[in-house]
Amino acid sequence: IRNIAVLTSGGDAPGMNAAIRAVVRACSFYKIDCTGVYRGYQGLLDGDFENLDARSVRNVINKGGTFLKSSRCEDFRKPEGRKLAYDNLKLAGVDALIVIGGNGTFTGAQLLIDEYDFPVVGIPATIDNDINGTDYTLGYDTALNTVVEAIDKIRDTASSHNRLFLIEVMGRDAGDIALNSGVGAGAEEIMIPEESDSMNRLMKSLKISREKGKTSSIIVVAEGDKSGKNVFELADHINDDLEDYNYDIRVSVLGHIQRGGKPSCFDRVLASKLGVGAVEAILNGTYNVMMGVEHKKVVQISLKDAIEPRHEFDKELRRVADITSV
Ligand code: F6P
Repeated sequence: IRNIAVLTSGGDAPGMNAAIRAVVRACSFYKIDCTGVYRGYQGLLDGDFENLDARSVRNVINKGGTFLKSSRCEDFRKPEGRKLAYDNLKLAGVDALIVIGGNGTFTGAQLLIDEYDFPVVGIPATIDNDINGTDYTLGYDTALNTVVEAIDKIRDTASSHNRLFLIEVMGRDAGDIALNSGVGAGAEEIMIPEESDSMNRLMKSLKISREKGKTSSIIVVAEGDKSGKNVFELADHINDDLEDYNYDIRVSVLGHIQRGGKPSCFDRVLASKLGVGAVEAILNGTYNVMMGVEHKKVVQISLKDAIEPRHEFDKELRRVADITSV
């Protein structure tokens, strides 16, 4: 192995820059070349490459986003697109590829492996934390802190006006952000995609809250919640169904602020461990795996297993949420 390429793809996540830095610095440490690919798989198709050395990644560990930029590339889903990507990698003398991203990124990588037997290692980065085989994905911890800080602020105004706030947080398929930020910010109810009875839970909890004399409430709703209603429709539903309770409701969609900002120390350290681990895996001849962390240890899991849908969620934390919101 003489040259490893690195790219970031899919939704950006704080800590991506720190991971690129770790990959580049590890390559430099082991005296091999590192090729940066711009704009994810789109850059592979366009041959948008640049050699990176240890100094190219100075002052990036503390920056949100990704300086290599990211994309969701439609053409890479097509066989012709992947052929072009493979040809460009070969032309640039790249021997292995490190992809930093989430489920879609790894699904693309697996196709490159299946069709061209090209060595790839994945680093999980998505604020959603929805990847098998790792306790944490890059960006998740930072996003949680951003969300908790935002909910704390909303709580100030909610309690001043005796209002009920529905707060939508990201999480297309996973409720990790909602459940953990909900517990951390002391939400009265939390709605997550993994539970099908979220609407019943909500209505029950609102009735109990009123009967117990709570004057303001925070409800955290994951964007992928399966109640069949978005946050605005939920607000209308509460108004109609619980008319007698006279809730004064406001809705707040936190949106993309959750994806930005300086990575937390936790994410920077995790990125550094996984970046170095990815380069060392390749140098040891271990390909087609995703680097992860389990019980503080860096681990490897096959990319195939990493892209399987994740169904389980933290039931113990749900229990804690129910007890602490009485
Ligand atoms: O996968 C990360 C994520 O932030 C999801 O939580 C969210 O649904 C999605 O990306 C938003 O994507 P986009 O930036 O393309 O709107």
